[in-house]
Amino acid sequence: MGEGLGVRVLVLRSLSDLRQWRDAVPHGKSVGFVPTMGALHAGHMKLIEECGKDVDLTIVSIFVNPLQFGPNEDLARYPRPFEQDQKLCEQAGVDVIFAPESSGFYSVDHATYCDVEGLDRYLCGASRPGHFRGVCTVVLKLFNLVQPHRAYFGKKDIQQALILRKMVADLSLNLEMVLVDTVREPSGLALSSRNGYLSDEDKQRAASLYRGLSTARSAYQNGERNSEILKSIIRNEMDLGSVRADDSPNRIDYIEIVSQSKLEPIIIIDQPAVMALAVYYGKTRLIDNILIP
Ligand code: PAJ
Repeated sequence: MGEGLGVRVLVLRSLSDLRQWRDAVPHGKSVGFVPTMGALHAGHMKLIEECGKDVDLTIVSIFVNPLQFGPNEDLARYPRPFEQDQKLCEQAGVDVIFAPESSGFYSVDHATYCDVEGLDRYLCGASRPGHFRGVCTVVLKLFNLVQPHRAYFGKKDIQQALILRKMVADLSLNLEMVLVDTVREPSGLALSSRNGYLSDEDKQRAASLYRGLSTARSAYQNGERNSEILKSIIRNEMDLGSVRADDSPNRIDYIEIVSQSKLEPIIIIDQPAVMALAVYYGKTRLIDNILIP
């Protein structure tokens, strides 16, 4: 990890520059990797901070991966404030940013994909067909390039983190996965690069997502084990507001309680579980979750 403030972070734009940098890392130095799509916020910075504590060199990737966006999703409008991201990385003492040009990362005839079967059947996997295939493919390619000793992911995207952990185990990748707790606003709203799309009113409403999850967790802690009851507690707490003027109303995508091992719905909670939800505020899709116990 660099010395923090004022130290310029090395920005690498091509796969060959990244390979060259990696080849030059001395044998005894540990490399920690934080993959991102940029528009960095305090959630990303927490991953970077945790990484910096553990390793000698921290590398952050910034790449809005087209493979993981569906045809009607927000690829084109996804925020790309690169200079601001670079500053944040510099302040945090990041050693290297890998920010490939979007045209150079996948070859024009790219045809190879990585699928982790099963774990993507429910939750976001059900609502976003092909999403996790895109995530696994980009992360596997990034792992091959960066060859990190440790890689950092947020529990905010719990399905992503668990799928990637399975990929690492199944393919015997030689690295340690570190999962980091979700960073939230004081209101409880989980930080997300997509929160910037929300109106102030919707942002206030969106704080009800975590309230719902927290209330359900309290019920669980008081002995409630029935998923249907816990899900209705979440639903009742949720503030979707009134009907919008446009044709994209606020609506629940899913509220699910699944096992942590298989990410399959469970009726009675008798094992480690995830309470997860996805909600649309207009065109903006937000997700959140809590692990229980
Ligand atoms: P992105 O959404 O930029 O998130 C990068 C990492 O930051 C992910 O591991 C995510 O879980 C974590 N993160 C996001 N919000 C967080 C929060 N509020 N608290 C803690 N961690 C948070 O996830 C992706 O990018 C992409 O799918 C990627 C893995 C980079 C592959 O393209």
